[in-house]
Amino acid sequence: MLMVLHRIFEFGIEIMEISDLTFFFKGPWLAGMDMLVTADPANIHHILSSNFSNYNRGPDFKEVFDALGDGIVTSDSELWKDLRKSYQAKIHHQGFQRFSMSTTASKLKDGLVPFLDHFAEEGASVDLQDVFGRFTFDLILILITGSDPRSLSIEMLEDELAKALDDVGEGLVYRHIKPKFLWKLQNWMRIGQEKKMVEANATIDRVCAKHISAKREEIIRSQEILDISNGKSHEDILTSFIKLDTTKYKLLNPSDDKFLRDTIVAFIVAGRETTASALSWFFWLLSENPQVVAKIRQEIIDTDLSRTGNGQESLDKLVYLHGALFEAMRLYPPASFGRKSPVDSDVLPSGHKVDANCKIIISTYAMGRMRAIWGDDALHFKPERWISENGGLKHEPSFKYLVFNSGPRTCLGKHLAMNQMKTVAVEILRNYDIKVIKGQKIEPVLSFILLMKHGLKVTITKRCST
Ligand code: HEM
Repeated sequence: MLMVLHRIFEFGIEIMEISDLTFFFKGPWLAGMDMLVTADPANIHHILSSNFSNYNRGPDFKEVFDALGDGIVTSDSELWKDLRKSYQAKIHHQGFQRFSMSTTASKLKDGLVPFLDHFAEEGASVDLQDVFGRFTFDLILILITGSDPRSLSIEMLEDELAKALDDVGEGLVYRHIKPKFLWKLQNWMRIGQEKKMVEANATIDRVCAKHISAKREEIIRSQEILDISNGKSHEDILTSFIKLDTTKYKLLNPSDDKFLRDTIVAFIVAGRETTASALSWFFWLLSENPQVVAKIRQEIIDTDLSRTGNGQESLDKLVYLHGALFEAMRLYPPASFGRKSPVDSDVLPSGHKVDANCKIIISTYAMGRMRAIWGDDALHFKPERWISENGGLKHEPSFKYLVFNSGPRTCLGKHLAMNQMKTVAVEILRNYDIKVIKGQKIEPVLSFILLMKHGLKVTITKRCST
């Protein structure tokens, strides 16, 4: 494992192809690293849907992912059900969706466009992945707190919360490739990567506490104004969760700051780097496939967005763009793998026996590249794969296209993320030419979110708008 760590993604694909999509990894004795790795759609359907109640996060998940607290990502059972219901009510609320659309539009106009104009004028190179990371961080923070941290600016200043979350992400990867006793000892002694984790956690706690107390005060103040004017209600996530109807969600406690802290972290983790990763790989794939750029531009012209605007109806008409984004995420899924553990021992459809509490890794990355699943052209970037004969979007079952997960724990932000990405792609492709600087190495970093290890350096030129 250590010897192939530098090319673990390709290694995983080779192993999966020769082992019929599932293999068992045996780690060193007592290291707690044994795991079954699968990319078999039948197994995945079984684990994530038909036998869902027998599979949860596993006994040591919360311990490893302690920075995420008791948020939706780490929870199981009854707590997860209440969290899921409350998140779903918020994310699917029409007012919140409008808030998300208008936030994306204004962050584009006042943030991304002036930024790209500046770099186009200067002719200087810029790391597009960093730009998207800042853009999506600002967006999700506005959706959570209602205020803009403005991490996307020409100065590219470091945001302490974004940095702390990056440090935690890095530390979590190390916790997966080190024996448990070792990282626990390092944590206890406050040394190495674990020291960084402890410091990052303290920063996350402090910044979240600041947002929570500011929001509580703001609610008290605005309540006074609302009482007088009967004015509009707030749409940001923090306000909704502070005001949560506890008769509907018995296990959630909005008066507990820890619950609100975990909610903030869950939303940032779910919605920031996922979308930034997808956009980065998408633009890199476009740079390698100019014919796809031409087709997307033609679709934008045909849809006549200048007349219809960037509303939901117009975005829905961009079928080829949708296919191109789906295709980019098939090859580079932002969440490259998932983890599950059986409560009781079980036999998977592939015939593998899994013991209670063992570790199962679902490799979404390998799934997207298996010839057995996608055919001989599995490694080719082909947006046409997603277009049906009548020109509409082709449906693939989620246990085959696992990018947004499958079954009861399907991503709640899929629609929101697709809208954000389409809006950004339309703005950039209409107004700019992005040129990837030659000679840089583009490879994924070993992490939960599939980011590019060295970023994506590009130059930008402004084009005559269509
Ligand atoms: C391209 C962007 C995105 C991708 C590829 C993506 C993918 C995923 C995946 C694979 C999961 C399952 C994780 C697991 O259980 O192991 C998930 C869960 C989730 N996602 Fe997304 N996501 C994206 C954007 C977003 C956004 C923007 C939001 C919200 C603002 C969001 C909210 C959530 C939530 C709340 C869950 C937890 C669902 C649950 O456990 O019941 N996601 N997402």
